[in-house]
Amino acid sequence: MVAARDRALHNVGMSLHIRAACVEDAAAILTVLNPIIEARCHTVLDTPFTLAEERAFIEAFPECGVFHVAERGAEGEIVGFQDVEPFATYTHAFDHVGVIGTFVRLDCRRQGVGRALFDATFDAARDMGYEKLFTFIRSDNDAALSAYGSQGFREIGVASRHAKIDGVHIDEIMVEMFL
Ligand SMILES: CC(C)(COP(=O)(O)OP(=O)(O)OC[C@H]1O[C@@H](n2cnc3c(N)ncnc32)[C@H](O)[C@@H]1OP(=O)(O)O)[C@@H](O)C(=O)NCCC(=O)NCCS
Repeated sequence: MVAARDRALHNVGMSLHIRAACVEDAAAILTVLNPIIEARCHTVLDTPFTLAEERAFIEAFPECGVFHVAERGAEGEIVGFQDVEPFATYTHAFDHVGVIGTFVRLDCRRQGVGRALFDATFDAARDMGYEKLFTFIRSDNDAALSAYGSQGFREIGVASRHAKIDGVHIDEIMVEMFL
């Protein structure tokens, strides 16, 4: 896990604090992630996670990855998280490439949480030696395409009918950016 990286900033009157995730965050992370999964229109994840699964995921998170949470307000309510994991572990050829994921609580979107996470994660990923970030975004996820585009990601291809959710095929847009 990346060393704690604390950042305080103020966006649209909302105080945000970005820090490294820890296993105690698992339940709060699921209050962000599971409703997004259940909505079935944002992500290719299709099955909500249990607390035990999320705790195990955080515990096993690679040392060379970045896992940030965004806390809001005096009580440190978690309103979003972002992670970067190595693109592959079967070769060192991709060691400079990270795969990024971003999730903001549905009722906290468009308030700068994503932007704050990207800022902190780009710095941490650079410090860890990543040179490039990559991910897939559902072609019907306009918000994510805009959010990643606003951060400098460019679309590099389409994996056609790559996902199938509730029997419907969905294209996946590949995006990349150089740090
Ligand atoms: C995609 C997501 C992470 C963006 O996070 P966010 O906190 O809402 O984004 P921000 O408020 O920081 O927005 C930053 C910029 O992204 C763009 N953007 C974000 N949401 C947008 C939307 N719905 N429509 C158009 N542009 C959007 C804008 O340029 C915005 O800047 P602006 O508000 O000053 O115009 C968030 O919508 C989310 O978690 N969605 C559900 C999960 C998901 O789709 N994750 C991505 C899976 S690949």
